[in-house]
Amino acid sequence: MTTAAQVTTGGGATNEATGRPKTLSERADELEEQMLKQLDRVPSKSPLYTMGDVDPRVGTVAQPLQPGQFFLQGPDPRLPKMPDKPALLDFFNLRFRQGGIQHLLQSANLALKNGHNEKIITACLLHDIGVVGFIRADHGYWGAQLVEPYVDEEITWAIRAHQALRFYPDESVGYTYPEQYIRNFGADYKPEPYIEAAYKEALKHKWYMTSRLITVNDLYSFDPNVEVHLEDFVDILGRNFRQPEEGLGFDNSPVAHMWRTMMWPTRFL
Ligand SMILES: [Fe+2]
Ligand SMILES: [Fe+2]
Repeated sequence: MTTAAQVTTGGGATNEATGRPKTLSERADELEEQMLKQLDRVPSKSPLYTMGDVDPRVGTVAQPLQPGQFFLQGPDPRLPKMPDKPALLDFFNLRFRQGGIQHLLQSANLALKNGHNEKIITACLLHDIGVVGFIRADHGYWGAQLVEPYVDEEITWAIRAHQALRFYPDESVGYTYPEQYIRNFGADYKPEPYIEAAYKEALKHKWYMTSRLITVNDLYSFDPNVEVHLEDFVDILGRNFRQPEEGLGFDNSPVAHMWRTMMWPTRFL
């Protein structure tokens, strides 16, 4: 295997088609292409990884294999190595975005301080795992699905519903529309009709308040004066997340493939 440092940049400094100096992103693409040419196992990019940056109908065309090269079908050597039987904490430590984890920990910590039960604390701790480790869009739905076989039904329901509830205030518990959403999405942003429908459905549900409490304890900015550690929640997770013996990804659950994809995201098939 060749490391990026060993790859020398080739080609000219200008884009041959436009005659202009190459942009940073063109140079990065070029470097990546050269690096891939020198790997003995070539990782692949699924359509979803590049969609938007490139037109998905064209996609990122795999470079032809060089003699002696094969497509990667296992762990990506550029990523931290996962254990054979990965536990949820391994994903927290080796896959999830570390800044995002602090958001989850601070939300769970706030729920703990506010005296909520372990189901609510666990829901807060896991509510954005879609964002930190998998797919941002529709993150409440992806996140709920990821944990569904391993947690109480109420936790899954709450994570799924927080996708919609976070856009709607509930003055009875002091939840107002987040200022940050105005900055992020613009003052005129209106959720899609499917989100509004999900909100209206959730209002009538017996677990409405569980999901609402995720939004109440959802911190929209870090408190830089508070540092929360994952270790502080290991016991609560141990009691509320049924870790499969075979490891996440290998327990043949309906979502095992999703955990495998986070573990080995660049396999060819
Ligand atoms: Fe969220
Ligand atoms: Fe959140």
